[in-house]
Amino acid sequence: MEKILVIGCAGQIGSELTLELRKMYGDANVVATDIKPAQKEITEGGPFEILDVLDTHRLFGTVSRNKITQIYHLAAILSGNAEKKPIASWHINMESLLNVLELARELNLNKIFWPSSIAVFGPTTPRVETPQFTVMEPNTVYGISKLAGERWLEYYFQKYGIDCRSIRYPGLISHKTEAGGGTTDYAVEIFYEAIREKKYDCFLGENTYLPMQFMDDAIKATIGLMEAPAEKVTVRSSYNVAGISFSPKEIAAEIKKHIPEFEMSYNPDFRQAIADSWPKSIDDSVARRDWGLKNTFDLKRMTDLMLKEVGKKFA
Ligand code: NAD
Ligand code: SER
Repeated sequence: MEKILVIGCAGQIGSELTLELRKMYGDANVVATDIKPAQKEITEGGPFEILDVLDTHRLFGTVSRNKITQIYHLAAILSGNAEKKPIASWHINMESLLNVLELARELNLNKIFWPSSIAVFGPTTPRVETPQFTVMEPNTVYGISKLAGERWLEYYFQKYGIDCRSIRYPGLISHKTEAGGGTTDYAVEIFYEAIREKKYDCFLGENTYLPMQFMDDAIKATIGLMEAPAEKVTVRSSYNVAGISFSPKEIAAEIKKHIPEFEMSYNPDFRQAIADSWPKSIDDSVARRDWGLKNTFDLKRMTDLMLKEVGKKFA
């Protein structure tokens, strides 16, 4: 029986992934942790501990006491916030991963999941249908930490045989937990503001295309990768995952179909330069071939669902 540790369970991904893992493995077999208190569904639905992933001693204690066999390590500082505190963010993003990888080696854990990002690409990368293997020269602290992290995953796989798996998530869109300080957050915030204020002042320019994915598809992809037989996982750095590409102007037009009075304005800030260094669209054919990645939400279906679910919160 697998026993799973989720680090960063209170975040945008962790709050949904933890519940899905508990459905699959049983509530008692998924230990949820975060440096801050988590949502009630998580703390009351199964084991929960406050844990700072940088505290090596406590991390070791939690893993050995609970006889953990797999770790999903989701704690990180995202792109926008990381630019404000580069050195502290580098420390959290890198030291935490090295702590987890060393633990996996010492305790011979079965599997590690650690997410990478489209931020591993940079201004010299081909921006349309970005291939799995291509030029990677990120110019943000977040992107540099993700690229270094990918290299460490592959190193631990090749050198120590640790079964490390990873996805380069695009911007994730969800309605359960708000986004945590990234450049793609506008595509979540816009729904809250559309419902509450009928207007949104976007921090990216109207024609800024970025790859995005609805959370349900991201969770399915994560589990699909983690459940795949090891021999199918040919990429031990991180897999490209495409989702859907759209611009702020296009998502605003889709929202207007539901809320005709919705008004969008554009005031690009420092995150515009980050977005301009990232791909517009992604080629994820390797993930489709290796472990059967599928994307089921397009812009229309995602917008319908987001407006319905965010609407319920303010009803
Ligand atoms: P988030 O900011 O919403 O959640 C991160 C969680 O980590 C938070 O709950 C935070 O409290 C926790 N955390 C921070 N420091 C910690 C520490 N020292 N110890 C323990 N917990 C700590 O982020 P997210 O959107 O859920 O992202 C999760 C992972 O996925 C990150 O690695 C991120 O880089 C990656 N990712 C996210 C997206 C996206 O669009 N959300 C896209 C690409 C990659
Ligand atoms: N959504 C993330 C960010 O914008 C991408 O990794 O930081």
